[in-house]
Amino acid sequence: MCKAGPNARRGDFRLLLCLVVLASAVPVPAATPIIDYRDRFHPVVGEAGMVVSQEALASAVGARILERGGNAVDAAVAVGFALAVTLPQAGNLGGGGFMLVHLAEGDRTVAIDYREVAPRAAHRDLFVGDDGEVDTQLARFSHRAAGVPGTVAGLTHALEHYGSLPLAEVLAPAIALAEEGIEVTRPLAFSLAHARPRLRRSAAAAGYYLRPDGSAPQEGDLLRQSDLARTLGRIAADGRAAFYEGGIAELIVTEMAAHDGLITAADLADYRVVEREPVWGSYRGYRVAAMPPPSSGGVHLVQMLNILEGWELAELGHNSAAYLHRLIEVMRRAYADRSRYLGDPDFVAVPAELTAKAYAARLRKTIDLRRATPSSAVAPGLEIPEESPQTTHFSVWDRQGNVVSNTYTLNFSYGSGIAVAGAGFLLNNEMDDFSAQPGAPNAYGLLGGEANAIAPRKRPLSSMTPAMLFKDGQPVLATGSPGGPVIITAVLQTLLNVVDFGMNVAEASAQPRIHHQWQPDEVYHESGVSPDTLQLLRGMGHHMVPSRRVLGRTQSIASDGARYYGANDTRWPGGAAVAPEPASP
Ligand code: GLY
Repeated sequence: MCKAGPNARRGDFRLLLCLVVLASAVPVPAATPIIDYRDRFHPVVGEAGMVVSQEALASAVGARILERGGNAVDAAVAVGFALAVTLPQAGNLGGGGFMLVHLAEGDRTVAIDYREVAPRAAHRDLFVGDDGEVDTQLARFSHRAAGVPGTVAGLTHALEHYGSLPLAEVLAPAIALAEEGIEVTRPLAFSLAHARPRLRRSAAAAGYYLRPDGSAPQEGDLLRQSDLARTLGRIAADGRAAFYEGGIAELIVTEMAAHDGLITAADLADYRVVEREPVWGSYRGYRVAAMPPPSSGGVHLVQMLNILEGWELAELGHNSAAYLHRLIEVMRRAYADRSRYLGDPDFVAVPAELTAKAYAARLRKTIDLRRATPSSAVAPGLEIPEESPQTTHFSVWDRQGNVVSNTYTLNFSYGSGIAVAGAGFLLNNEMDDFSAQPGAPNAYGLLGGEANAIAPRKRPLSSMTPAMLFKDGQPVLATGSPGGPVIITAVLQTLLNVVDFGMNVAEASAQPRIHHQWQPDEVYHESGVSPDTLQLLRGMGHHMVPSRRVLGRTQSIASDGARYYGANDTRWPGGAAVAPEPASP
């Protein structure tokens, strides 16, 4: 009834609405939707669960799995494989990622790490040339840029341990999409045209994603991916073994051997998924669960929330200068710590103190509320260029209360742009997420330290932040985003919009965002932040820079326990929140 969920925190009007309904003595159904018609953005409302992803066909695949009685993990795995077909820039078999799963039964939340690992032959100076400089071409656009892919192991692991349907059933929609072909949508045509110069350099990739004359497919073209369909079919038949030991492994090893790549049969056979304890935090009465290292996402999300909890943000006003100043200073300090302390926890000890309230209180005291702290005063820095971030996130919620928040990636859009001949999928360029030379920036301008140096069988540091929010022990929000380093700050602002400003999940997703990452000492902002506010922030000493790209693309679901509210970020056309049809009585 008049239940307070994250969608219902805009107190007064909703409360009034509830009181009016109650006072009218009309019997109120148990699940009366709580909608505020003053909102400018509205979530898709479902009664039997929700699937949100960056590509509509994939979301529909997930919703159909829920309708057939599959649980959230079944649907998420189906979406993960479907996106490998319908969103080739980020959906993948050749990459890796992180999945957060909340299981209603037993009230457990697990973090599944299927991040890529460095091949055994990798070493600290892999990308350092004879001139002592990092060879960015080698680190980003060669076969050596690929870490051992984790996606197939991760998705099959999740299904085996937490799903309920057979792998072949969950893979069937992706196989059909690849075999029968998908109509190229306008966003896909746009993305392929943008990537064409890179895709042309790999004969296999050009064959898979470009027209025979080398031009990019146009909107309305049919994109059939028969090699990918065969690969998916092999996985459906033989599970992860097909990819890591069988025919697909052979194709990967052949591709590597022919192009000076490092991944061997032993690297593939050795690949292991790791289940980890999520990073847990608390914020204004909510519990927060997010991805632990080797992602930096959870640690810094919790760290930033801890610092922000010391101020009454709602009183400052949403996106006011006073509010944004605090956000910027908190981001600056978190990203400075990221560069120093974060790395693969199987190789380095990440200080537990980073997520402690006491540490946050100490950092809060270093923040001058009237002016910017130069990043050079927080730690030494470099000037760094910005590059294109990619990755994709999806969230799934079933009516039993199981929730999945998954972010996976090839790193860049289309990864290295190199496809495995005969196998139909692209290789990641995740090795660039290591610090090729501690102190040298990666493609996102992120500075890494020794903790993230390359080593054999190590996982590169990530920013991916699949996250969940809990209230009174119940999940109320699942979210996450693509965007490299901006992932963490996009997720942070989405949570703040929900918790501090009482926005519904669609409103929370649509608000203009900012991003600061310590170095370079610039604050990127989207359009929609008031010019007066920008002026005030400049006056405080911040270097405000209009962002050349959107700052994240969240795919979120909120629930009040009775209904499911899906929000596909408006920052990329083509995504969708799809609610399964409730089963007929
Ligand atoms: N490759 C981007 C990330 O892992 O954060």
